[in-house]
Amino acid sequence: MAKRSFFVAGTDTDAGKTIAAAGLLAAANSKGLSSMGLKPIAAGCERTEDGLRNSDALMLQKAASIELPYEQVNPIAFEPAIAPHIAAQQEQRMLNADRISAMCRGTLMKPVDFAIIEGAGGWRVPLSHRETMAHIPKQLNIPVILVVGVKLGCINHALLTAESIARDGLRLAGWIANSVDSDMECFEQNVATIASMLRAPLIATIPFLDDPSPENVASFIDIDSLLD
Ligand SMILES: Nc1ncnc2c1ncn2[C@@H]1O[C@H](COP(=O)(O)OP(=O)(O)O)[C@@H](O)[C@H]1O
Ligand SMILES: [Mg+2]
Repeated sequence: MAKRSFFVAGTDTDAGKTIAAAGLLAAANSKGLSSMGLKPIAAGCERTEDGLRNSDALMLQKAASIELPYEQVNPIAFEPAIAPHIAAQQEQRMLNADRISAMCRGTLMKPVDFAIIEGAGGWRVPLSHRETMAHIPKQLNIPVILVVGVKLGCINHALLTAESIARDGLRLAGWIANSVDSDMECFEQNVATIASMLRAPLIATIPFLDDPSPENVASFIDIDSLLD
């Protein structure tokens, strides 16, 4: 059983969930912890001779310290980069949180120190007209790390997402300020405002990087508060 598991949520798509998740894995690896990363649902895949492949899932698969088959990292893959429930509808499939959580739980049974699950999009992204992405961390009962893509409007998105996480009965274990806009004005003031209004530790401030590789991102992350 994974000793510590976290769900990585973002304020939006392109907030930096994947680079942060891979950075978290690299940070865990550098402490000598074993790690794995899951991307249970991915919309936006390349067709390969091995099947559909999603770049987020491949990045997590590579950043992890233990080797997992692709189908365990990313059990549900859709080719078009569209809302997952719509991609499912187009294939006459239906996404079901119970089933997806069970698949994650199965993989989380492996004995690793540190596991990360990356969602898709933001907190209230639908799986169907009945369920949202939030059902997965809720059913797994794991704490959440919120990646805030720091740009104009992000304070509101961060506060709303944190409110929803709390309302869903989950713990916000920490948050990450990720610079997605190199021209952002008042970056520090935005981060300070969110820090003063969220009741969770800021575990990383990631600048806009030429190369946001897991190792480079990890150098900005302090995972100690996640390990207490
Ligand atoms: N701090 C950063 N510096 C440079 N590029 C970034 C940074 N954060 C994200 N990006 C880039 O922005 C895009 C979206 O990031 P990603 O981690 O894939 O977001 P999400 O997983 O939330 O959709 C990617 O191309 C990524 O490389
Ligand atoms: Mg991603």
